[in-house]
Amino acid sequence: SWVHRQRTRSRLSTMSTADTIAIVRPVPDSIGSCELTHVERTPIDLETARSQHRIYTETLEGLGCEIVVLPPLHDHPDSVFVEDPAFVLDELAVIARSGAESRRGEADSVAEVLALHRPCHAIRSPGCIDGGDVIVIGRTLYVGHSTRTNAEAHRQLRDLLDPLGYRVRVVPLRDCLHLKTGATAISDDAVLCNPGWVPPSTFEGLRIVECHPDEPFSGNVVRVGRTLVADSAWRRTNDRLAEAGFEVAEVHLGELTKAEGSVTCS
Ligand code: GLY
Repeated sequence: SWVHRQRTRSRLSTMSTADTIAIVRPVPDSIGSCELTHVERTPIDLETARSQHRIYTETLEGLGCEIVVLPPLHDHPDSVFVEDPAFVLDELAVIARSGAESRRGEADSVAEVLALHRPCHAIRSPGCIDGGDVIVIGRTLYVGHSTRTNAEAHRQLRDLLDPLGYRVRVVPLRDCLHLKTGATAISDDAVLCNPGWVPPSTFEGLRIVECHPDEPFSGNVVRVGRTLVADSAWRRTNDRLAEAGFEVAEVHLGELTKAEGSVTCS
């Protein structure tokens, strides 16, 4: 079963997450031509990438998620990174407009599925945003200012979300693609953060677990119930999470790391 393929750091949560839907999309044939911003291009082994993605999906399923598999988009090299075309709040889903033109064709099929669950609101030109730049903790949205997400999108988000009681906080980034490349929520009051890429002062008032300095890409984990799904490549940071009392389920997405993606993106 899936659990035998993982190096599970502590007993997995038995909390039911059956009301959690995980949307995934298969690794496209064209992933070798993906966008790269801060990472050098190295060959990606398609079969290994698919096998790693399958185990990742099975892990989410094993943690209780209902899995929805979108149709593959082989002409969109980054389409496995299904996080970026949208993000979801309790009240609505925001359909993104990527700062990377090559990624804009990914949004329609994501919106189609989200529309079954939420009213959808699209970011309009000249606004640009990727879901990877958005962390939601309580009623606060931390939104990166990046090569993918611009000030016009921040403005549109404020117009949309202020009336719903959300606060939009803009986060400047250094040396990384998305906000979630360098930081992710690990509970309702704690974040995992690489302080070299994302200023920890962003998260004032929250508990912070810092990435191990030798593992700059380790700030990206997915919360499923009380469990954090993390890449096994980042053992030292995962140890820090376990020592801080978090349950960690490890997967490995090494081939997708070469495409400048990680667990949340997938
Ligand atoms: N390769 C991931 C991205 O650029 O969106």
